Amino acid sequence: MNSIPVITIDGFSGSGKSKLCQSLSQYLNWFSLESGVLYRILACLFLEQKNPMSKEYIIPLLKKLDQYFIYKNGYICKIMNKNFSNTYMISNSVTIIASKLATYKYIRKYLVNKQRLFRQPPGLVANGRDMGTVVFSDAIIKFFLEATLTNRVHRRLQEFKKKKYNYEFKNLFQDMKARDEQDQNRKHSPLKPAKDAIILNSNNMNCIEVVHMAIQYIKQHDYFK
Ligand code: DC
Repeated sequence: MNSIPVITIDGFSGSGKSKLCQSLSQYLNWFSLESGVLYRILACLFLEQKNPMSKEYIIPLLKKLDQYFIYKNGYICKIMNKNFSNTYMISNSVTIIASKLATYKYIRKYLVNKQRLFRQPPGLVANGRDMGTVVFSDAIIKFFLEATLTNRVHRRLQEFKKKKYNYEFKNLFQDMKARDEQDQNRKHSPLKPAKDAIILNSNNMNCIEVVHMAIQYIKQHDYFK
């Protein structure tokens, strides 16, 4: 039994997990973990080395993953490779490979062990696809974020626009749909709400309203009384 409390946030791409995770970790003054970043760094390393997607080439990449990010003040604050810019990290090529790599059991196992090391006092807010179901199945509160694909695509497009990254609606719609399906239908740790998850449907709420709603749930929990 680990007594350090964890709050998990799982959900589809573009459902607002990152924003909620940042806001809750700041509100609670807890550590935060954006687990998708680890899959994305692995994808960048994989694309850089141009080898086949086989265990013999991927294991060495997993072993050097730690060298590629700095975790400071409770979050992953810097990626240590000038070729891995923010724009590149969220690009289509990296996103597709991250989701593909995430289907392999040995990769997940390695990253799950790494993700658990982020559990530090006073607590952790972690977001991803399997945080509540697998990695921190003993979390005190588990949120699952939902929104229609169309809404999520619109939100992502706005984020991309800010980062000056151009994407057509219909292309992004197809890519996100394919990724949702891959994340949901994979054999190992598929994306799904934990049995005890609180479902937050953000179709009719902006991100501030979602944060407020999550905080209401947190305040009602015995741990915070
Ligand atoms: O959260 P994200 O969009 O940055 O994640 C990129 C990919 O990584 C996602 O399509 C699936 C994978 N992933 C995962 O399988 N499990 C996690 N906990 C986080 C991400």
